[in-house]
Amino acid sequence: MLKKFSGLVKTVLYGRQAPFSEKSIGLQGEEYLMRKIGDRDIKELIALERDVYFGETPWTKSAFLSEIHSPIPHLYICIVTKQAEIAGFIGSRLIGNDTHITNIAVGTAFQNRGIGQLLIDEVENFAIMNDCATLSLEVRLSNTDAQRLYRRLGFSARNIQKNYYTEDNEDALDMIKHLEVR
Ligand SMILES: CC(C)(COP(=O)(O)OP(=O)(O)OC[C@H]1O[C@@H](n2cnc3c(N)ncnc32)[C@H](O)[C@@H]1OP(=O)(O)O)[C@@H](O)C(=O)NCCC(=O)NCCS
Repeated sequence: MLKKFSGLVKTVLYGRQAPFSEKSIGLQGEEYLMRKIGDRDIKELIALERDVYFGETPWTKSAFLSEIHSPIPHLYICIVTKQAEIAGFIGSRLIGNDTHITNIAVGTAFQNRGIGQLLIDEVENFAIMNDCATLSLEVRLSNTDAQRLYRRLGFSARNIQKNYYTEDNEDALDMIKHLEVR
């Protein structure tokens, strides 16, 4: 409790945010770049959402804009191909001693190559650099594929949030990963 409080004080007082350096990545013989998301990417992110959520776009342009310009410490990054196409992205924000993953998606043409794991690993580094004790996320109860990946990466179920998704009232599984405290 005390630790959580001190984390919150640090966030509010100092707006802590560890720096992120873009990096190149090799995966299955293909080269990618991991970089921060900017305003110019939002149109493509919405198209990526449409691709993976069967035409739905859970996040609007204004939702993306308010997250990437939020005063709360955050990390919004994407992985792009050599042709500058966005293959996947992840968003996270830091509250107290927790880094919360707010959004993650990998285009259908790029799934099952390890991109999702790389994105989560990068957010985990961000969380550790910022002295977080946990990493958390919500996932649809029916999204068992994503849950399998999260469990493999060390997340476990914490509780169920009833009617979490307003579009169809589906419940969310709240998942958490405890991080090594440095
Ligand atoms: C969930 C999601 C982000 C995962 O992204 P991804 O890039 O496919 O994830 P990874 O490739 O790292 O891992 C997926 C699986 O591929 C496997 N994989 C990774 N690299 C591989 C490779 N080279 N060869 C074969 N399989 C591989 C992983 O082991 C993993 O298997 P597991 O599910 O049994 O753990 C993606 O499927 C997605 O965008 N889904 C739709 C949107 C969504 O559901 N978002 C989550 C909301 S909470």
